[in-house]
Amino acid sequence: MKVLMLNGSSNTNGSTRAGLDIMAEVFDTEKIECEIVCVGAKPVRDCIGCGKCSEKGMCIFSDDGVNEFVGKATDADGFVFGTPVYYAHPSGRILSFLDRAFFSNMWGTGAAAFRHKPAAAIVVARRAGTSATYDVMNKYFGISQMLNVGSTYWNEFHALSREDVPKDAEGTQTLRNLARNMAWLMKCIKAGRDAGVTPPAAEADSMTNFVR
Ligand SMILES: Cc1cc2nc3c(=O)[nH]c(=O)nc-3n(C[C@H](O)[C@H](O)[C@H](O)COP(=O)(O)O)c2cc1C
Repeated sequence: MKVLMLNGSSNTNGSTRAGLDIMAEVFDTEKIECEIVCVGAKPVRDCIGCGKCSEKGMCIFSDDGVNEFVGKATDADGFVFGTPVYYAHPSGRILSFLDRAFFSNMWGTGAAAFRHKPAAAIVVARRAGTSATYDVMNKYFGISQMLNVGSTYWNEFHALSREDVPKDAEGTQTLRNLARNMAWLMKCIKAGRDAGVTPPAAEADSMTNFVR
């Protein structure tokens, strides 16, 4: 079993990474493989809405890691998406990255890389904007038939920089509990699959716009 994590900060070794590392330790104890992918500091293209991904099965832009991430996602059993809070929203780069990762994967057989898999967002801020940021991140999971994992608080912690992270006792506890819950859910899904419990097929005939 494998968890794929995304660090949505341009700072590859900052607070967001420290939060992901705390969860990775728990996954290690639970004997679950873990990989952390960094969005990094190079430019990330926004989705241009060309719809070409519906023909190609991937985004037309292949130079900033999005298609590579979706490739890895296909083999992953669970996901953690980490972002710093910028002006009370997720980092612009993780939004650009995830818009394209999720949109390019929703065609044809439909969201196979993400569908029916556990997901959690973790968000870090110096002071405020965590709940609004968390809300935005969770929107990706609901529309992709993912299973949103919770913890003992909303998945947020407080730090200006990496050194602050261990000082947030409740925040780090929330991250550890979140990782345990995700590990448990992944094991339940595997046990179900091994026992012949398969995910439901979704109805997909209706697509109703509001104006026609
Ligand atoms: C452009 C920018 C905007 C920020 N906006 C907020 C904010 O709205 N609320 C807050 O509490 N912290 C804000 N911060 C602080 C970061 O969320 C905080 O330093 C975080 O730990 C950075 O994570 P990182 O080291 O993974 O990049 C902002 C930082 C930057 C660079």
